[in-house]
Amino acid sequence: MIYDPDEIDQLGIFDGINEVIVITVSEEGLPNAAPIGIIKKDTILSLRLFTGTHTYENIMAAREFVANITHDPLVFVETALGDLDGDRFVRRDGEIILKDAESWALFRCDPLRVDISMPKIEFVKGEVLRKEFRAVNRGTNLVIEAAVAATRYVALGSEIYLDEIVRIRRIVGRCGGPRDVKAMDLLDKLLDL
Ligand SMILES: Cc1cc2nc3c(=O)[nH]c(=O)nc-3n(C[C@H](O)[C@H](O)[C@H](O)COP(=O)(O)O)c2cc1C
Repeated sequence: MIYDPDEIDQLGIFDGINEVIVITVSEEGLPNAAPIGIIKKDTILSLRLFTGTHTYENIMAAREFVANITHDPLVFVETALGDLDGDRFVRRDGEIILKDAESWALFRCDPLRVDISMPKIEFVKGEVLRKEFRAVNRGTNLVIEAAVAATRYVALGSEIYLDEIVRIRRIVGRCGGPRDVKAMDLLDKLLDL
């Protein structure tokens, strides 16, 4: 277990925007997972939360969340546009995490310093579950980009995002692996394309 904020890089969180799967728990005790960017600039960690999501409501109420680091493109699409079944979560050291996470980290927001849309967050503890390394794959990276475009399309309804998804699909077909293609197929299905 890692407790020292100076060692957060060991969990895979570096300067810049870290795209992770955030698990929050509702007031009824139900876990919710969604892709969220954790912004790190030197020692400062923050989020930019849009209102109107389960993640926003749960974080504002519980003031804590677990960030799960994963490279699985499918889970980004699944959680961006839908929900995960209960068997995709496990408990670890008292926290609900993704069963297939590579590492996880618990964060808290200090209520005194919370700004509604950009709460500063504080690292509490985390753990590395598996260390995998892989070559950069343009297809996998673009599935994450397509998932962002998909959530914007859902929120704003602009056709520009659909054009982007079509362009991305072509490159994923050329560069991605089977899981990337599966993720794009699921994205099309969930968007009803
Ligand atoms: C890669 C990625 C990063 C995202 N980052 C954020 C973010 O930083 N803040 C945010 O409010 N929404 C972000 N989103 C959008 C949310 O994941 C999306 O609105 C989701 O549907 C919220 O689900 P929920 O209602 O279950 O919380 C991101 C989406 C993707 C695919």
